[in-house]
Amino acid sequence: MGLTTACCLAKIGHNVIGIDVDESKIKLLKSGLTPIFEDNLESIMRQMLAAQRLTFQHDFSSEISACEFIFLCVPTPQDEDGSADLTFIRQATKSIAPFLLANSVIVNKSTVPVGSTLVVEEILGRKDVSVVSNPEFLREGSAVHDFLHPDRIVVGSSNRQAAQRVADLYRSLDAPLIICDPASAETIKYAANAFLATKLSFANAIAALCEHLGANIDDVMNGIGQDQRIGSQFLKPGPGWGGSCFPKDTRALVKIAETSGYDFALLRGVIDFNEIQFERIVHKVRKSTGGTLTGRTIAQLGLTFKANTNDLRDSPALRIGQMLITKGAKIRSYDPTVNASFGGLHVCKSAVDACTNVDVVLITTEWAEFSKLDPDLIASVVANRQVVDARNILDANQWRRAGFEYQGVGR
Ligand code: UDX
Repeated sequence: MGLTTACCLAKIGHNVIGIDVDESKIKLLKSGLTPIFEDNLESIMRQMLAAQRLTFQHDFSSEISACEFIFLCVPTPQDEDGSADLTFIRQATKSIAPFLLANSVIVNKSTVPVGSTLVVEEILGRKDVSVVSNPEFLREGSAVHDFLHPDRIVVGSSNRQAAQRVADLYRSLDAPLIICDPASAETIKYAANAFLATKLSFANAIAALCEHLGANIDDVMNGIGQDQRIGSQFLKPGPGWGGSCFPKDTRALVKIAETSGYDFALLRGVIDFNEIQFERIVHKVRKSTGGTLTGRTIAQLGLTFKANTNDLRDSPALRIGQMLITKGAKIRSYDPTVNASFGGLHVCKSAVDACTNVDVVLITTEWAEFSKLDPDLIASVVANRQVVDARNILDANQWRRAGFEYQGVGR
């Protein structure tokens, strides 16, 4: 998020200094390489470095005193009790406080509990510097696109003038602008992620229902998604939702609600249901191996939390893989972004290699190369023709024709 913000702010015409406490990261970025896999990011970064609109620094003291806006893009990891840990926000604020230019604005992009803008103001202890909340809605894999084509820009501050100055930074993007108080801006971020997670858990629940009713989830979701009040995005059933944001932010919102005296039972249900979804996939695999997983070998295709990213954080695929191992199964996995074996997962060189001599093929990430797999070729290498398609990306009829017993999600 920090790197995308730095590169894209430069792209839309601003002069940006990217600062990180990790010296090795700064060295890598200065050499024109990005430490993450993000569509179009490296090329924009190189263009901006060449245009001298973007520089990277490790030591920030002197440079910060020349900046009008300071964006906080530090992580807010999950604490043991589910709440967001503000250690990095506090550290960053303390470190920059003495150097800030009068009338400069701190723009918080990190996802922080409601009320944190006030916390930053207190730590800062400077009346001549404003603090503004400006949540981001970037998806991994399409972060650059999302930054440059936002559905809306949200700016929250008790200082209307400072909020407008931050909004003006994005003027060229031509997106609807919402200026509100900081608590509302902070709540918007959590509510957006919680709503999307709810939509997904709902889609997964309807998929489960479809299996009982003999209905087809693809048709059902198409049918409800055409209703503009519902919308067709985020209705694809899968192995459960994951990634670095949804699990962390939904838990944090439950905690924020609890602390404020509200029991967010609906969201607790959404989180619990996601755990049930992981178990439903494990159950499908067990069914395909005749009721027991002990000693069975499974080809697991896809480890990242979704396609087009190399991010394994809170990946449903890893959770399901671990659950299968705990139940006695052996895993031969393959993911286009993972080269080495780890955590009991044997990582193979290709999808075909992973499928060799296995009892069941399990698809957990929707990488395009998996939907193009030739079922006849896979049929010739597996021990048993069983496939569990937890992303509904395979052509069920084609796989059935190749002799496979096919299980999807709600199909
Ligand atoms: C999310 C939000 O979308 C973004 O706005 C926010 O800033 C950060 O969190 P991201 O973590 O990149 O972005 O993942 P996203 O694309 O939203 O997917 C989250 C999870 O939902 C993944 O596990 C994905 O596979 C799953 N998903 C998504 C589905 O199962 N079906 C869908 O239709 C969409």
